[in-house]
Amino acid sequence: MDIHSEKILILDFGSQTTQLIARRIREQKVYCEIHPFNVSIDKIKEMSPQGIVFSGGPASVYADDAPKTDPKILELDIPVLGICYGAQLMTVQLGGRVERAEKHEFGKADLEVLFTGGVFAGMEKNRAEYQVWMSHGDRIEALPDGFEVSAVSEHSPHAAIRHTKKSLVGVQFHPEVAHTLIGVDVLRNFIFGLCGCKPQWTMQSFVETTVAAIRKQVGDEQVICALSGGVDSSVTAALVHRAIGGQLTCIYVDNGLMRTGETESVLRFFREKTDLKVIHVAAEDYFLKELDRVADPEEKRKRIGYGFIKIFEEEAKKLGDVKFLAQGTLYPDVIESVSFKGPSAVIKSHHNVGGLPEVMKLALLEPLRELFKDEVRQLGLELGLPEEAIYRQPFPGPGLAIRILGEVTGERLHILRQADVIVLEEMKRSGLYRKTWQSFAVLLPIRTVGVMGDERTYENVVAFRSVDSVDAMTADWSRLPYDLLGRISNRIINEVRGVNRVVYDISSKPPSTIEWE
Ligand code: XMP
Repeated sequence: MDIHSEKILILDFGSQTTQLIARRIREQKVYCEIHPFNVSIDKIKEMSPQGIVFSGGPASVYADDAPKTDPKILELDIPVLGICYGAQLMTVQLGGRVERAEKHEFGKADLEVLFTGGVFAGMEKNRAEYQVWMSHGDRIEALPDGFEVSAVSEHSPHAAIRHTKKSLVGVQFHPEVAHTLIGVDVLRNFIFGLCGCKPQWTMQSFVETTVAAIRKQVGDEQVICALSGGVDSSVTAALVHRAIGGQLTCIYVDNGLMRTGETESVLRFFREKTDLKVIHVAAEDYFLKELDRVADPEEKRKRIGYGFIKIFEEEAKKLGDVKFLAQGTLYPDVIESVSFKGPSAVIKSHHNVGGLPEVMKLALLEPLRELFKDEVRQLGLELGLPEEAIYRQPFPGPGLAIRILGEVTGERLHILRQADVIVLEEMKRSGLYRKTWQSFAVLLPIRTVGVMGDERTYENVVAFRSVDSVDAMTADWSRLPYDLLGRISNRIINEVRGVNRVVYDISSKPPSTIEWE
């Protein structure tokens, strides 16, 4: 079911910045979707988009395995914007020529606009001052019939090209990146000017259309949702609840591996502020028993994942006839599974409710699958969720178990929880909590010698990890002020019994990962 009256399609040729194109377009309140480059022409016709963007990509158009679209897409009478590789492909498919450039053009370049209509509407002619960002080895050498040059740069005599009669445009530069100072204007001119879209895709309209779609999909059936207290599951629950109210039941499994106060604050919010049905399953003892004497990280993850599914299934069965499972799948997960990245090795078994739908024969309800994380946050605010729930840092499904290296015991959980509270308090007080992706304490399985008062101590070590990231795929350690590091270390050693040393983790991902296990 298509609930979008207007949309732009982005065909992905493997560029690092394809997702950025989507974000930039959505920031203009126009809905867009990313599809693999080889999506069929019939599917495109079915989706009937207002415009199509060909992304950049690492290949050379003449390479044997170069990704290619059906050239008939260019005859559909739908406006197309080709970016970098996308522009070169369009050129070659329409009879022009692309060659390896003598000088590669990477980084900033000055653009001189020759045609001030189309994607350059509102710009001035013959002013070599428009900074753009280039990243290409090949370049367009000969234009296809019907095309003309609309902008040049020092090393690109065809930095932008346009069909003089049809809405087909190619740019060698990347309008989606921040270094292209006219990038937003170019994209706006494309989506509003050439494609005729209107800026009408807002969170409010998203709520209205999605609520209607959920109602239609679910009918009178019952839906369950695993509520973890994280942003994605909380927003999913709030949105589905807005649509079908009492037909939704959420299950919150307390696995005893949560942060201090986490369970209470999640339950308090949903019980006090909404009339959502939440079943609270207190399963601390079960999980601690399952983890007894287990030190291997993968084994811990598997036992927690398995236990979670078992409990969830038991609870769902008690509810009787349930047909749907609501899940907070986000857009990056969806695109990862369609784009042409090769299969990646299993680094860690992620804990989620992945296996449940098959076991229980449930249909999936994934109302956030079109959204990026920051859009989910906006949606959460629109639905009235409190800011502290919306801007919460991600927390892994297996919880503190994968931050206690080695065996998980009640005593070690107690030590880590206290250190964790201090980290969060200090990060929030410094104003850096929202700027960092995650900040947390890890309890190491070693002890070191120290001296407190005049006494020798032989106690635990806590590692403090804080990383900056945009999507958790890569991350770098946060350059936190020394004073803040000092305060966190002092407080942990002074206030948490059983800890006499704190170290700061300065590894990036890759080659390390964010969590230690
Ligand atoms: P890593 O450690 O792989 O973590 O660099 C990447 C991001 O994923 C989170 N993480 C998890 N999230 N279930 C989750 O829902 C899990 O099993 C899990 N393991 C790691 C981690 O906190 C980081 O944000």
